[in-house]
Amino acid sequence: MQVSFDRMMGRLSYCTSLVFVYYFLMFFLRTDSYPSECTLPFPRSYVVYHLSDREVIDVDGKLDDSAWDSVSWTEDFIDIQGPDFKKPRFRTHAKMRWDDKFLYLGAYLQETDVWANQTKHDSVVFQDNDFEVFMDPDGDTHWYKEFEINAINTTWDLELNKPYLNGGTPNSSWEMPSMKSAIFVAGPINNASVPDKYWTVELALPFTNLVDHSPTASAPPNNKDQWRINFSRVEWHVRNVHGHYEKVPNVPEDNWVWSSQSAINMHLPERWGFIQFSTDAVNATEFVRTPNWPVYSALVMIYDAQKKFIAVNGYYTADLDQLEIPVAVRTGQCQYEPAVQVIKTYSFKATVSPVDQRLPVGHIRDDRLIWFNDRSSNLKLQV
Ligand SMILES: *[C@@H]1O[C@H](CO)[C@@H](O)[C@H](O)[C@H]1NC(C)=O
Ligand SMILES: *[C@@H]1O[C@H](CO)[C@@H](O)[C@H](O)[C@H]1NC(C)=O
Ligand SMILES: *[C@@H]1O[C@H](CO)[C@@H](O)[C@H](O)[C@H]1NC(C)=O
Ligand SMILES: *[C@@H]1O[C@H](CO)[C@@H](O)[C@H](O)[C@H]1NC(C)=O
Ligand SMILES: *[C@@H]1O[C@H](CO)[C@@H](O)[C@H](O)[C@H]1NC(C)=O
Ligand SMILES: *[C@@H]1O[C@H](CO)[C@@H](O)[C@H](O)[C@H]1NC(C)=O
Repeated sequence: MQVSFDRMMGRLSYCTSLVFVYYFLMFFLRTDSYPSECTLPFPRSYVVYHLSDREVIDVDGKLDDSAWDSVSWTEDFIDIQGPDFKKPRFRTHAKMRWDDKFLYLGAYLQETDVWANQTKHDSVVFQDNDFEVFMDPDGDTHWYKEFEINAINTTWDLELNKPYLNGGTPNSSWEMPSMKSAIFVAGPINNASVPDKYWTVELALPFTNLVDHSPTASAPPNNKDQWRINFSRVEWHVRNVHGHYEKVPNVPEDNWVWSSQSAINMHLPERWGFIQFSTDAVNATEFVRTPNWPVYSALVMIYDAQKKFIAVNGYYTADLDQLEIPVAVRTGQCQYEPAVQVIKTYSFKATVSPVDQRLPVGHIRDDRLIWFNDRSSNLKLQV
């Protein structure tokens, strides 16, 4: 069959005009067509499934309960400075479940040299190789919890009223009395003559303690609640000295994390990952990103830029043009309107108002505290 040239051209221009109309409409109708620099990369996320009536986790260090088999691992941990840095020598990943009392955690740490020296509860566990959990249930960056454990089940649990960089003080008196912890080592411990395969950490962390000082977080969480969390693994370089392990002198430790911090610092809660609690059947639900992420991103960008600014100039600025933030953020091309208020040059508060007025207004202070007008809404999913 012969198709005439005219008809072909007719069809083509018909298609062309349809395409044109499509883009014309999209230009005016799209709500997500903001420059990419308006938001920070979204951190890692994981859906934590409630145990069913038939499931039990026996905290014995071995991740052999069927409740573990049915859920997926997190992504493998990467270098704390980001994915462009050297890939960790050993694999690390974790799993989570929950019931009405505990957040359960199972972690796998590939390792040829399992060793540990710290034996006293609340000692500085990261002087040994360790597994660490950081949790900020209400996502405001203040009063977050930190937990560390080594390969002989020595634990350190503490809370920080605010991040270290903001003058926070660690409180080691903070305890989780009903916490359960156990370790399994595939191979001997503290014996440099025999290579190991891995160690696993199994934890049950009580919700009632995790929400201390977080009045808007619920214990146990509700279906769909989201918390900020991150994991890290500290790994020292060791050598075999007559069958015993010794640290290689003058070599810094490696830090491997779930969600990259882009800095050698775990105390940046705004960069931690998200967990979403679910009462649905395993794998039956999707992680949902908070609609407040663009506003949250702007708060963090302004905060970081103010800290850079004061380091150079000795004071904070209320002039957005003086801050090292993307042009789009400064010039109203994003889905929000930022404003900064400086109080006596050494204190500031930034406010970011979303264009979509159904969403709450966000705030950040020079001590890193983040809050939304509807106080608990920084992690809320529903508008
Ligand atoms: C859930 O998904 C993970 C990862 O794909 C899979 O390993 C697991 O078997 C699934 N569990 C169920 C109960 O379908
Ligand atoms: C591990 O430590 C916890 C306290 O953190 C303790 O309750 C538990 O009995 C210890 N388990 C083993 C096997 O030592
Ligand atoms: C440290 O934690 C303990 C136990 O939760 C608490 O009683 C105490 O008030 C905390 N101290 C500070 C300074 O927050
Ligand atoms: C390490 O294990 C080997 C083989 O079991 C044993 O002969 C040796 O005594 C152990 N060394 C130490 C320091 O425990
Ligand atoms: C563990 O402690 C012993 C005794 O103090 C020390 O000789 C050894 O170097 C330590 N091991 C490591 C890996 O730091
Ligand atoms: C974990 O924390 C590190 C350091 O703050 C960060 O680079 C990384 O993105 C965080 N990971 C997640 C999943 O939050």
